Amino acid sequence: MTTLLIRGARPYGEDAVDVLVKDGVVAAIGTDLSSTAETIDATGLVLLPGLVDLHTHLREPGREDTETVLTGSRAAALGGYTAVHAMANTDPVADTAGVVEQVWRLGRDAGLVDVVPVGAVTVGLAGERLAELGAMADSAARVRVFSDDGKCVADPALMRRALEYTKALDGVVAQHAEEPRLTVGAQMHEGDRSARLGLTGWPAVAEEAIIARDVLLAEHVGARLHVCHVSTAGSVELIRWAKSRGVQVTAEVTPHHLLLTDACAEGYDATFKVNPPLRTAEDVAALRAGLADGTIDAVATDHAPHAAEDKEVEWAQARPGMLGLEQALSVVVGTMVETGLLTWREVADRMSVRPAAIGRLAGHGRPVAVGEPANLVLVDPGARSVVDPAALASKSRNSPYAGRELPARVVHTLLRGELSVRDGKVQE
Ligand code: DOR
Ligand code: ZN
Repeated sequence: MTTLLIRGARPYGEDAVDVLVKDGVVAAIGTDLSSTAETIDATGLVLLPGLVDLHTHLREPGREDTETVLTGSRAAALGGYTAVHAMANTDPVADTAGVVEQVWRLGRDAGLVDVVPVGAVTVGLAGERLAELGAMADSAARVRVFSDDGKCVADPALMRRALEYTKALDGVVAQHAEEPRLTVGAQMHEGDRSARLGLTGWPAVAEEAIIARDVLLAEHVGARLHVCHVSTAGSVELIRWAKSRGVQVTAEVTPHHLLLTDACAEGYDATFKVNPPLRTAEDVAALRAGLADGTIDAVATDHAPHAAEDKEVEWAQARPGMLGLEQALSVVVGTMVETGLLTWREVADRMSVRPAAIGRLAGHGRPVAVGEPANLVLVDPGARSVVDPAALASKSRNSPYAGRELPARVVHTLLRGELSVRDGKVQE
């Protein structure tokens, strides 16, 4: 195993220290540490615990033309992640112990980040029968997060049963909150703009109605509930209310919902078609405020690679989804740190500590401290660059940030003391 001396890094953006990494753990932290080991000059770089994503679509098995566990792992490591939850809407769906173990094994073989499979809640994401939740939890993949993401568990009786089972497994249902009867044919946020553009609207109430129902169900069952990609001001209010009642609810927001609005639909460029849709500037402000005050626990990417033939088509025909892993931290720095809404320590909380806790991941989201696993990311906070979609590690090109200048750059990522990214390059 590698021994590395990281010189002059600033944990959580605070005072510079030297960090000795040995045998996969942080062996010492101090000023003027000396070692015969290889030295990394990290002067000026911010040191954080490795990021943890609760919501990544890796597309394997089934759509390896758009992403694989390996290419998605590269994108994740370049984004500063050391663990990602791989969503279950693959083909076949990850609704059995066999499929989740396959994804878990592919992640282990890639070896760049810990790939943690999410198990489907219902068989085939069909919303009719519960999948074998216990078998997935007991498998080598140790599934704790269950989600039909892409689809909502719409039947309230089934959702109640799912909460009861996941409670017994110390797991959590991650709900894609979308009342399907209110979003038939929906293309973008419902409002003045959808009317003017002639695109069917996806109303805020379709998300909020499910969240209201589910926090009440979670309270009734005494189970944990996680709300995926919260996108409206009303949803933030509902979650704030539920938390004040003591409901065990957690929530995530995506980088794109923190930065972009429904104005992106003006040019009918389907890169900006996503589910839930980009909302209004007022919603964006409420999401930022909710993330800042902790109502929203985590940033999760909803990294959703799609082939050109599914994106570079007419808006109504295009699939929803956008890339996120490689730019997530930059977007959070631009929207939350540079605006004074979050400190670096809070960035670590929202992008590493809390997502690891929600996913019940041991060894991730740990403090930068002696004896802890060396899952770490080093970030240049002063860097700025224009996103070049051709330079992405993802197999797909549907980045909503193409051509945009974003702050901060992930320089190095360490997984259990080994560099998965060195100076912005994947180490394989
Ligand atoms: O935009 C989205 N894309 N939202 C989802 O819920 C699913 C995802 C996908 O799988 O492409
Ligand atoms: Zn979703």
